[in-house]
Amino acid sequence: MHILHVVGARPNFMKVAPVLNALKEQENVLQTLVHTGQHYDINMSDVFFEQLAIQAPDVNLEVGSGTPAKQTAEIMMRLEPVLVERQPDIVLVYGDVNSTVATALVCAKLGVQIGHVEAGLRSFDRTMPEEINRLVTDQLADVLFTPSEDGNENLRREGIPAEKVFLVGNVMIDSLVRLLPSAQKTIVKDLPDRYALVTLHRPSNVDDSAALKGILESLLEVNRELTVVFPTHPRTRQRIVDFGLNTGQLRLLEPCSYVDFLGLQSRATVVITDSGGIQEETTYLGLPCLTVRENTERPITISMGTNVLVGRDRGRLRTQLSLVLEGKAKRGTIPPLWDGQTGKRIADILAGRSPR
Ligand code: UD1
Repeated sequence: MHILHVVGARPNFMKVAPVLNALKEQENVLQTLVHTGQHYDINMSDVFFEQLAIQAPDVNLEVGSGTPAKQTAEIMMRLEPVLVERQPDIVLVYGDVNSTVATALVCAKLGVQIGHVEAGLRSFDRTMPEEINRLVTDQLADVLFTPSEDGNENLRREGIPAEKVFLVGNVMIDSLVRLLPSAQKTIVKDLPDRYALVTLHRPSNVDDSAALKGILESLLEVNRELTVVFPTHPRTRQRIVDFGLNTGQLRLLEPCSYVDFLGLQSRATVVITDSGGIQEETTYLGLPCLTVRENTERPITISMGTNVLVGRDRGRLRTQLSLVLEGKAKRGTIPPLWDGQTGKRIADILAGRSPR
C-alpha cells in the first residue's frame, strides 16, 4: 500500500512523526512525504524535522506565505501533478491548517482516498480560518481519526457515517511522550524559577491593533508578578512592529524548537496561549493553561484537563492568575487514549484496510 502524507505548517510536524514511524513497522507499506512549504523558516520547519527525526520530504511544493486563498490555491495547483504522478492509495492530512484543506480538495477531485488525522474538532466559530478547514476536510475524508469522543459526536451530528470514524487518541501526545525526557534536560539561560510562558498568533488576537494592544497590556500587568517569557510567532512579531506596540519588559524570544519549547513548558508556572495544541500539551502535563480565546475546538481540555478560557478579558486573566499564584489552579486528568500509542493505532487501522 502506498501512503502519501502531506504536511505544511508547524503544528503538522509533531503529528506526522508518530504516524510515519508506526507505519515503518508495517509490512508492504510505501510512504511518501510531501511538504507544502506553508511554513519555511528554519525555526518554523527544519528544526522540527531534525528533532522529531522526520525523513526529508520527498517533494517540497515551496508555496510560502500568501493570503488564505492564494496559499490554498498554490498548494492545490502544485500538489495535483504530484498526486497524478505518484498514484497513492491514500493521502493522510493532519490538523486544520491551510495545507490540510487544500490537499483534501485536490484528493477529492482526483478520487484519491483521504485520511484525516485529528478529525472532528469543532470550535463552532466560523470566523476562525481553521474551523472552515476542519469542516471541509472532514466532509471530504474517507477515514477520520479522532482524538477524543467529542470529535465522534460532532462527526455523527454532521452526518459522517460511523464506519469511517476511528477514535484513536491524540497523536501529538505521542511526540510529547517521546521527547519529554530530552526536553527536561534543556536549559534556558537567566530564566527565573517561576514564569508565565506565553504564545499568541491567532489572527483574531494579533491582526487587530486594539486587540493586540489590550493583550500586551494584560501581559505587562502579569509581568509585574511573574516574568513573562514569550516566544513570538513571526506573524505576531510583524504585527507588533506594524502597530508600533510596546512590549516593555516582556521577554520576547524567537520561535523555539520543539524540544526547547517543551522544556520551557514543562517548567512553567502557568501557560497563557491561543494555540490549540498547547491547550492539549498542558492538559497532558497537568500545567495550568489560560487560553486567550472565547471558545475552543478542544473542549476535553476544559472538561477533563487544566484549561480555562479567559478570552481577552483582563479581569478573568487576573482572577485566574491569582488562583495559580495561590496554588489553587484548576486540576485535571489525562483524557483516555492520550497515551503515546496513537500513531500505532492509526497504522494498524490503515494496514488493515485493503488498497483501492
Ligand atoms: C498557521 C495555521 C494555524 C497554526 C499556525 C502555527 C492556517 C490557517 N493557520 O498559521 O492553524 O496554528 O500555522 O504556526 O493554516 N511566516 C514566516 N515564516 C514561516 C511561516 C510564516 O515568517 O515559516 C509568517 C509570514 O509572514 C506569514 C505569517 O507568518 O504571512 C503567517 O503564516 P501562515 O502560514 O499564513 O499562517 P500562521 O499564522 O502561521
